Amino acid sequence: MKILVINGPNLNMLGRRETKHYGTDTLKSIERALTEKGKALGCGLVFFQSNHEGSIIDFIQEKASGADGILINPGALTHYGYSLHDALVDSGLPVVEVHLSDIHTREKWRKISVISDVVIKQISGFKTQSYLLGLETLVEHIRGGKAK
Ligand code: DQA
Repeated sequence: MKILVINGPNLNMLGRRETKHYGTDTLKSIERALTEKGKALGCGLVFFQSNHEGSIIDFIQEKASGADGILINPGALTHYGYSLHDALVDSGLPVVEVHLSDIHTREKWRKISVISDVVIKQISGFKTQSYLLGLETLVEHIRGGKAK
């Protein structure tokens, strides 16, 4: 099983960025924790981060056919990324959306996720754990469990 793990704008800055909301883990350390979790779950992960919506779409279009699912933290694209939404639909893959912070308890504009109708689950507010729970949920869903 192969999972695409995608991080959107500004998530390369984790560890130095608004630690009150996002915690102190860097993206590298989150990816390391996910790699360990992936091993335990028996799946391989392909990591990608970009600050550009088009580059994320290019990555999805290029890699979707060889993958089984997508774990994504779209960053602020969550709230306005309509072309990302469409690329996720076109991928035909199950998608889990994760957020480090709880987007439902912050600014009004953050509460809206334009990709939420595409995803099997949104996990928000558990910092690094959001990613680990998200990966578990996705793998369980792909294997036919009741993750939704
Ligand atoms: C985020 C929440 C978004 O609103 C924000 O723009 C981010 C990170 C999170 O992980 O909590 O960049 O997706």
